[in-house]
Amino acid sequence: MEIKIASGAPLEKKTPCLILGVFEGKPKTPLLKDLDRHLGGSLSRAFRDKEFSGKQREKLLLHPSSALAAERILLIGLGKEKGAGAERIRQALGAATGFLQERSLSNFAVDLASLAVRNLTLEALTQHVVEAILLAGYRFLRYRTENPDELPVALSKLAILVAKKNQVKEAGHGATIAQAICRGVYLARDLVNEPGNAKSPDFLARQARSIADETGMKCTILEKPDLEKEQMGALLGVAQGSIREPRLIILEYHGDNNHSRPIALVGKGVVFDAGGISLKPAEKMDEMKMDMAGGAAVLGTLLSAALLSLPVNLVGIIPAVENMPSGSAIRPGDILTSKAGKTIEIINTDAEGRLILADALSYAKRFDPRVVIDLATLTGACIIALGHHATAILGNHEGLIRQLLKAGEQSGERLWQLPLWDDYATQLKSEVADLKNVGGRPAGTITAAAFLQKFAGDFTWAHLDIAGTAWEDKGRPYIPKGASGTGVRLLVQYLR
Ligand code: BES
Ligand code: MN
Ligand code: ZN
Repeated sequence: MEIKIASGAPLEKKTPCLILGVFEGKPKTPLLKDLDRHLGGSLSRAFRDKEFSGKQREKLLLHPSSALAAERILLIGLGKEKGAGAERIRQALGAATGFLQERSLSNFAVDLASLAVRNLTLEALTQHVVEAILLAGYRFLRYRTENPDELPVALSKLAILVAKKNQVKEAGHGATIAQAICRGVYLARDLVNEPGNAKSPDFLARQARSIADETGMKCTILEKPDLEKEQMGALLGVAQGSIREPRLIILEYHGDNNHSRPIALVGKGVVFDAGGISLKPAEKMDEMKMDMAGGAAVLGTLLSAALLSLPVNLVGIIPAVENMPSGSAIRPGDILTSKAGKTIEIINTDAEGRLILADALSYAKRFDPRVVIDLATLTGACIIALGHHATAILGNHEGLIRQLLKAGEQSGERLWQLPLWDDYATQLKSEVADLKNVGGRPAGTITAAAFLQKFAGDFTWAHLDIAGTAWEDKGRPYIPKGASGTGVRLLVQYLR
């Protein structure tokens, strides 16, 4: 999509559609009064007859005929002005974009002044507006070869309107930031939406390599013999049921010339999770192509960080495997020796994510990271606990958790903390090995994190369980059905 920033009076802008924000109960701003006059009073009649009152996500499409430069005007409700913030803006612009896209309108203009909310700079406001539009306009259409007229139109042109010439630059910055972030989210969504047959661990590795080539990052790919040399018995154990060989993907971004210790981002990369010998039921098994969403978020975050030239050092680590049942698969009762030397009794082969992450966390030690954050679609229990509205966060450092919670609020990718008291670890005790890979039904998300904690050692570490947030069933204003790309916006905000 081509994005331009323009200054001047919004009602003089020639465009197929002009989007104006309206707060609930505020129908008489100077701009709306002016518009009403041009429309011969039809706007005040619409307010009077309660056709439109500015409630959140409410829409009114006007056709001003020749009265104005714009061919159409879309009023979008922002809700009550009190308490409005970044998320309200994203919701509104997401809803507006969906509405216009359904009507095959792909070229529109947005008046920023009508969207101004307290405590948001013009740069931030522009960022949220552009972000919401780009994210709402995303579709995964690679495999739709028939009836092109039934497909949603791709966004073509966006004009961002500011009042004064000297605001163009600041708004331009906001738009550039949004575009860099959305490239990372698009990448993550594309990878997660890609079907399992198209995405082997090697496919993910090649994707990482091409991002590295584009941005000048260092990319290291470990193949099976390398993983054997590294003694990654837990990762290799999960991988041994699939004919597609595992990879460990390592991306390094150097944005800080002072050689500061890096932040390590570790993402679960199970390209398909059938459950292994502890096979999953058929219902919704197709969705388990999304089990590499943590890895996708790590790739997306590194891409965005590089595009934004963020002044930090990062290392992304993605253990990539497929979890399949077969004659060569691991069995319940097997004992694996992890890279850290700890032995693990396999109770359920479907608790595979923690196994590959354990070895990836051990691998991270060589980078001497100052912070380690892992992301994983780790437990169904997380969906039971928090539904689809929050990512679970657990960790061993309250300061890091607080920073991430704040980044969650700011980015709209919200987190909720669960406790990680020592008491939970007793559920992982094994008779025959150092620990077992399942802690029973109670507190499944917490015992999974407690398992990871044993491999996080003395890292400053946080774990994000994105099982409930990585995949969108119904479609939201700026998250279409399918992969959400969750984690990218959160982590870029944290890093910024
Ligand atoms: N990838 C799944 C978790 C998952 C479930 C993610 C639903 C997204 C939606 C994970 O590998 C898994 O199977 N976890 C098991 C663990 C159990 C065997 C202890 C689960 O949650 O059932
Ligand atoms: Mn599983
Ligand atoms: Zn899994």
